[in-house]
Amino acid sequence: MALPQHPNLSGLGIPNDKFKEMMLVFSIGLEEVKTKIMNLEKEFEIQYGYNPIEKVQSRLKEYDSIIRKAKRKEFPLTIASFRENIRDIAGIRITCSFLSDLYRIVDMLKNHLELEIVENKDYIKNPKPNGYKSLHLILKLRVSVHQRIESVYVEVQLRTVTMDIWANLEQTIYYEYSSSNSIPKSLREDLRLAAMAAEQLDSKMEFIRQQMDKLKP
Ligand code: GTP
Ligand code: MG
Repeated sequence: MALPQHPNLSGLGIPNDKFKEMMLVFSIGLEEVKTKIMNLEKEFEIQYGYNPIEKVQSRLKEYDSIIRKAKRKEFPLTIASFRENIRDIAGIRITCSFLSDLYRIVDMLKNHLELEIVENKDYIKNPKPNGYKSLHLILKLRVSVHQRIESVYVEVQLRTVTMDIWANLEQTIYYEYSSSNSIPKSLREDLRLAAMAAEQLDSKMEFIRQQMDKLKP
C-alpha cells in the first residue's frame, strides 16, 4: 500500500523523514493485523464451518486528518504524541452478515497471543444518540522495523453489513451538512428510524441463522 503523501512538515518542526518513518511503522502494523485477521478467518471457518467476514477494509489516516485531530484534541504536535495519542492512524473495518459473529471475532482477537486490546467500545450495546452502531477496538502490537521492535496501535471497527450501510449514509449526510447539529430535524429523525429498522433486520437475520444452526444435521 502506498504511504500517504504529505507536504513539507517543517512549519511544525517535524522533519519529513521522521513523519515517513512514523507512517511506515503504522503501515507495518496495519498489514500485520490484516494478516492476523485473515488467519483468524481461516480458524473460524474450521471451527464453525463457514466464513463470517463479508469485507475487510483498511486505510492509513491522511496527513491533514492527523494534524486536524491532534489540534482538535489539543495533543502536542510531535511524532511521539501522534504515535501515542492518535490511535486510529492505522484503521481496519470488518463487516459481517451476522451480529453474533462480530462478538466471536472480538473474542478471537482478545485471545490472540500477539495482540493486546487496550480499548473496547461497544456502540452496539450502547449506540450513539444519532443511532450509530459498531464495535471499536484499539489493538496494540509489536512490530519489527529497521531491526528494532516498535509498539503500534491499530483501530479495528466491526459492524454488520446493515450497520455499515447506515453508517455510510449517515456519514454522507454529515459531510453534506458539515456537522451533526446542522442536519435538518426531519432528516435526523429519518436516520433514527432507519437505525431502528436496521436493528430489526439484524435481529431477524440473527434469528434465522440460529434456526438454521438448529436444523443442521
Ligand atoms: P475520534 O476523535 O473521532 O476518533 O473520536 P473517538 O476517539 O472518541 O472515537 P469514536 O469511538 O467516536 O470513533 C471514531 C470513529 O468511529 C470515526 O472515525 C468513525 O469512523 C466512526 N464513527 C464514530 N461515530 C460515528 C457516527 O456517528 N457516524 C458514523 N458514520 N461514524 C462514526
Ligand atoms: Mg477514534
